[in-house]
Amino acid sequence: MSDKKFSYDELTGLPILSDVYAHVKTQLINRDEVGFLYFDIVNFRRLEEKYSFQKCQNLLKLVGFTLKQQKGKLYRDEDLVVVGGKGLDYFVLFLFSPPRRKDSFANHDLKLISTRIKQKMKNVIDENADILGIDEEIDFHTGYTVIKDDPDMEVERLIYEARKEAGFKAQLEEIMVQFIANISHELRTPLTSIKGYTETLLEGAMKDTSLCERWLQIIYDESQRLERLINDLLDLSMLEAEQVELQFKSTNITALIESVLTVLQHLAQKEDVELVIKTGDDIPNVVVDEDRMKQVLLNLIHNAVKYSPKGEKVVVEIKKLTREVQVSVSDKGVGIPQNHLNRIFERFYRVEKDRAGKTGGRGLGLAIARHIVEVHGGTIGAKSNPGEGSTFYFTIPTDLVFPRDEDTI
Ligand SMILES: Nc1ncnc2c1ncn2[C@@H]1O[C@H](COP(=O)(O)OP(=O)(O)OP(=O)(O)O)[C@@H](O)[C@H]1O
Ligand SMILES: [Mg+2]
Repeated sequence: MSDKKFSYDELTGLPILSDVYAHVKTQLINRDEVGFLYFDIVNFRRLEEKYSFQKCQNLLKLVGFTLKQQKGKLYRDEDLVVVGGKGLDYFVLFLFSPPRRKDSFANHDLKLISTRIKQKMKNVIDENADILGIDEEIDFHTGYTVIKDDPDMEVERLIYEARKEAGFKAQLEEIMVQFIANISHELRTPLTSIKGYTETLLEGAMKDTSLCERWLQIIYDESQRLERLINDLLDLSMLEAEQVELQFKSTNITALIESVLTVLQHLAQKEDVELVIKTGDDIPNVVVDEDRMKQVLLNLIHNAVKYSPKGEKVVVEIKKLTREVQVSVSDKGVGIPQNHLNRIFERFYRVEKDRAGKTGGRGLGLAIARHIVEVHGGTIGAKSNPGEGSTFYFTIPTDLVFPRDEDTI
């Protein structure tokens, strides 16, 4: 492969992405597909603001140099390392398989190569930390995918799409890893406790009848916690896969909320929190799956009670809006800082990281609630003033299932 036709970035000595388009196109035509990897320095702009221009240039130079060193060592055939553009903070690697090779690129090969390079770059940066003078961890967004030739599409477009897809895939992978880590953590906590108590019982503690009874109760409670967790996880994945069949029914929402308050009354009394309902005479019936709607309400009101100080009120208010009914749950509790507000509906997301704390939830309730509200065609949200309390609200459209009623207005 002759690189002579490219112009080179002065800083890194690498060809510039826009200058290799024609070459990549030729390779795509000859080989049908090209492996694509990218490496993006996380927060490069922020680094530029914090450290001197020269230091950041040196960082780019080091990364470019390291990548160039990998050239020819990565893949059986040829490869091409390029830099995003003059002064840009991302690098792209094209891998060219032998022309018309039968077996195409395997994703796991690309993944392995990308992980290896990322590791190599981090090591080199660590080794040169003193010279670089940037005293913080440098991380990379990396991604990989295969670009297939498409005669109807410009090569720029193909590369642009590849970058988007690689980024998306990398993000998904990160979510997956995080998800599995979270599940393992949540499963391990009750299991450790069950195992610990059982072992001690078997080692002889069993002979003490009252101790035995108490510990068996703990084991039973913990296994129930496990069961609930697994049910919630299953529920969530069914909701996400849109595999849940809903039993829609015209429902008096005030009566439904009252029945939920009755269930939570005992807990509220224990926490010395008063449950108050505010409703109007003009609330129309809504078409909902009652069990699912109860699940949403239970979680919102339970949360409000959990985070309320003793002696306070939790107010559930039902309002008729133009095309929907809005239910809100307000408390005078700790509140939720602004930067957490839009994340609390993500599964496993909790503001306070200490899972063993008093409130000890798993962060699944709101994720489930959001899905349920959305399959009813509504929206869910939260407002909060930290230190003063929070309001969670959701809507149920009144004109989705029975549009005729609204038409007459
Ligand atoms: N009323 C509230 N006041 C303050 N923080 C809240 C309130 N409701 C929810 N949060 C925050 O949002 C997080 C997510 O709530 P979510 O209901 O999803 O999980 P959880 O209650 O912790 O656990 P569970 O899965 O048992 O419901 C909570 O951990 C808490 O940090
Ligand atoms: Mg909850």
